Amino acid sequence: MIIAVDGPTASGKGTIARALADHFGLPVLDTGLLYRAVGYQTQLNHGDPDNAADALAACDFAASLLADPALRYESTGGLASRVSIHPAVRAALFQRQVDFANQPGGAVLDGRDIGTVIAPHADAKLFVTASAEERARRRHAEMRARGVEVTRDAVLADIHARDARDTGRADAPLARADDALLLDNSALDRDAAIAAAIAFVEGKV
Ligand code: C5P
Repeated sequence: MIIAVDGPTASGKGTIARALADHFGLPVLDTGLLYRAVGYQTQLNHGDPDNAADALAACDFAASLLADPALRYESTGGLASRVSIHPAVRAALFQRQVDFANQPGGAVLDGRDIGTVIAPHADAKLFVTASAEERARRRHAEMRARGVEVTRDAVLADIHARDARDTGRADAPLARADDALLLDNSALDRDAAIAAAIAFVEGKV
């Protein structure tokens, strides 16, 4: 069974993907981490994330960074969304994701283009979202809890910029696949969103 979980930044798609993986006993891949690793490595190389050749040159080294805590920084998410625009970067990361999706027994993947590009044949697809204001509220609370000094308006502005870049790019933009469940969790708590996701996938198998 292949489960594709897509959605914008701070939508809770990672939480839902991990809960589905736990529930169905499947391995899970957070594909955003791959792009984050490329963005971070580009910076370590003193490269320009908006330059395709610089970003591509970082791809070979990116895998060795996957456990690096710096990948979780907000700033690394911004770098990731810049390097992920380049078709050469997407192509370099493509096969690794396809192989993960198609491993025997199945898998859960979360990202932006899983249901549309990486695993269009997935058995169950979810598009997880919430209003930008609600995503900013949650992300802001999370960051404050970690001791990061930031205003909610700055978080909201960053979310709008990430959304615009992810949905506006030409290659594999963030989009809901026609056959994906739209799971808007603006008014749902974590457990209710997870229960809705599990019920949907159970209906597919
Ligand atoms: O999901 P996460 O916020 O970690 O992703 C970081 C960035 O990586 C996203 O803003 C997006 O630009 C890019 N990404 C992508 N395709 C994916 C996963 C992430 O373009 N499948």
